[in-house]
Amino acid sequence: MSRSQEQETKTRPVLHGDRPVAGVAAIVMAAGLGKRMQSKQAKVLHPVAGRSMVLYAVELAQRVAGHQVAVVVGHQADQVSQVIKESTAGKNGQVPLSIVEQRELLGTGHAVLQAKPVFLESGRPMPAQFIILNGDTPLLRESTLRELLEVHRRQEAAVTILTALLSDASGYGRVVRSSDECVSRIVEDRDANAAVKAIHEINVGTYVVEGDFLFSALDQLQPTNAQGEFYLTDIVQMAVEQDRRVAAVTLEDPNEGLGVNTRLQLAEAEQVVRRQIRHRWLAAGVRMIDPASTWIDAGVTIGRDTVLYPNVMLEGATMIGEDVVVRSGSRITDCTIGNRVEILDHCVFRDSQIEDDATLGPFTHLRPHVLVRKGAKVGNFVEAKKTEIGEGSKANHLSYLGDAKIGKGVNIGAGTITCNYDGVRKAETIIEDGVFIGSDTQLVAPVTVGAGSVIAAGTTVTQDVPLDSLVISRVVQVTRPGWAAKRRALLAEGSVPTSRVSLPKSKAKKVKPSARKAKASKRRT
Ligand code: UD1
Ligand code: CA
Repeated sequence: MSRSQEQETKTRPVLHGDRPVAGVAAIVMAAGLGKRMQSKQAKVLHPVAGRSMVLYAVELAQRVAGHQVAVVVGHQADQVSQVIKESTAGKNGQVPLSIVEQRELLGTGHAVLQAKPVFLESGRPMPAQFIILNGDTPLLRESTLRELLEVHRRQEAAVTILTALLSDASGYGRVVRSSDECVSRIVEDRDANAAVKAIHEINVGTYVVEGDFLFSALDQLQPTNAQGEFYLTDIVQMAVEQDRRVAAVTLEDPNEGLGVNTRLQLAEAEQVVRRQIRHRWLAAGVRMIDPASTWIDAGVTIGRDTVLYPNVMLEGATMIGEDVVVRSGSRITDCTIGNRVEILDHCVFRDSQIEDDATLGPFTHLRPHVLVRKGAKVGNFVEAKKTEIGEGSKANHLSYLGDAKIGKGVNIGAGTITCNYDGVRKAETIIEDGVFIGSDTQLVAPVTVGAGSVIAAGTTVTQDVPLDSLVISRVVQVTRPGWAAKRRALLAEGSVPTSRVSLPKSKAKKVKPSARKAKASKRRT
């Protein structure tokens, strides 16, 4: 996949299989602000396919380095540390990870130097090699890093750098080689003269450095450059001056070395990562009708024979089972979905769980903490929050179900609303097994409807209902045969004001003639 300086064969086995390599430590630089992003947020926190950019480097480091991983944080240190801790929490058997703070952002060389105490104070021997990664290079592959390490060891180099050939190299550090093709130094874009700017080989920002060389070299760095910073890249020239070997591996696919400095580069990285994710799930047996419009975050898992229609977004830590169908326009975030679930068009689900064989949508909104049990049906314009919908139960149309526990085999009629909020507190509605709730029912919580009960359409339930009861609360219906025809006839004559005929007889009697006159005159003005 990449070409080393000495034209090593490309088919050599990957170093130490796919396990972390003993004696190798890693340092990830993630302290920078990322000025060119024009953002309030630290650059490394910006997400790529739903996962903070820094985690790509941290997880790569953890997969390859067997000794210790140190991450250097600085700008928004607390948030960056939090994101790293959350992602590594609960993962047993991982190499130790330390987070160190770079209090003043004085450059990449200064950043790496902040990790020195982690390795000096650990009581363990200095690692044989350090892998050093920029926190803004999310497309870098594990196999490339392992190859870099292997070339470094084989060539007994002090420093090995990863390079790429770009038609437009602007912004990157250029790799300057001597007449014998050996790397002699790296020159930053801002320090480069016209001749150096014309070089197309760039420094990717991924390095392997000998344990006995790294910190002694960093201690000697000087900020004598356009930015007044301590450049990590200056250790290349130092190695050459000390007659130590500098090796280089050049990426075959230069995209892999994309460093995200701007929003445009972030969008480019996002596209590449998303394509890789789609290809992985297609290879694993997922059907996508239109892969290009299917958005799958890095943390999502999908079962075989699941079908994703165009414009589906699967976000966060969503897990989807087998034989699920997700129709167009649905966005599913941090949900767990069983097998054979059918999700019709335009649903929004967040932080909820759906068991096997359930059917949802179109236009269903699940807010956090909804549990849809096996075979349940949730239909169009139903919103649910912190609610359990029992096995085989149905809420097919136009409902709000909040803070509710609904048993098995329950029918929730169209327009049913749980009145869970009195303006101050939230209260719970419990609907036991086998209940039938007629359309347009309001359940004023806290309230319990006992098993097997029937609530008549249009009822407002304010008190607990014992099991197997009928509850009905409606105004008595008044029917006047022929009334409508009579009104039409009067209106056709034009002699009777509309208000008079539209009043029911009983009520009309109660209105005093004088009051009615006053009202009518008011209306005329
Ligand atoms: C760096 C390299 C450049 C290379 C490019 C590749 C240096 C001097 N230059 O430039 O040769 O072509 O990456 O993408 O190393 N950081 C800190 N502390 C600091 C400064 C930066 O932790 O004081 C971190 C940043 O968060 C980032 C990484 O180091 O993750 C690289 O910093 P950045 O400012 O993006 O360096 P570039 O100018 O891109
Ligand atoms: Ca960069």
